[in-house]
Amino acid sequence: MNTNPTLADSTPCLISPTVSTVRAQGQPLKLGIMASGSGSNFEAVADAIASQQLNAEIQVLIYNNPGIKAVARAERWGVPAVLLNHRDYKRREDLDTAIVEVFRQYKVEWVVMAGWMRLVTPVLINAFPDRIINIHPSLLPSFKGVKAVEQAIEAGVKIAGCTVHLVRIEVDSGPILLQAAVPVLPDDRPETLHARIQVQEHRILPQAIALVQRGRSL
Ligand code: GRF
Repeated sequence: MNTNPTLADSTPCLISPTVSTVRAQGQPLKLGIMASGSGSNFEAVADAIASQQLNAEIQVLIYNNPGIKAVARAERWGVPAVLLNHRDYKRREDLDTAIVEVFRQYKVEWVVMAGWMRLVTPVLINAFPDRIINIHPSLLPSFKGVKAVEQAIEAGVKIAGCTVHLVRIEVDSGPILLQAAVPVLPDDRPETLHARIQVQEHRILPQAIALVQRGRSL
């Protein structure tokens, strides 16, 4: 797997038109982030805030799998991390009710699903109408759902990528905010392609949040 960020950074890519990185004025956007795994996208958002490319604050991280790497990242950034283990809830709606309660408690305005590997229900979606963002590792509408990178390799596409979109009830299908495309190389395995895609995820997720922040403050 190519873990060298310098090499990965120099991979050609194409990003859909975006906003300038000039810091938007006004109140910082209060974000609630949801993660199920490594949390590298959480980190990218935290980095963008720290370097003033994004006028936002991460109020809380909600995670569903005990011991994931995202929690250590949240601790390093001084962000409260709340475990809501989906295994403790009978129905998806019950988990989403608990998520909404935590977000309300932390005064969250916008929700970012950064590698949240659970289906969400209208309970969450209706609590934050048009204010939930998801990052998905494919050029939607291709390769929705799980194992998107594997699906891309299996399909033999030559260009892959990632999408940031607003969340709707149908999985991976809301209005698209930003996309980035990367080449699929002949010897790619899911891990190598995913690593290349993730470099771009870490760019377009903060940019997409900046886009909505700017929209709000116009
Ligand atoms: C990303 O590839 C994202 O597109 C997908 O889950 C992965 C999360 O990665 N939804 P990380 O936990 O942010 O590193």
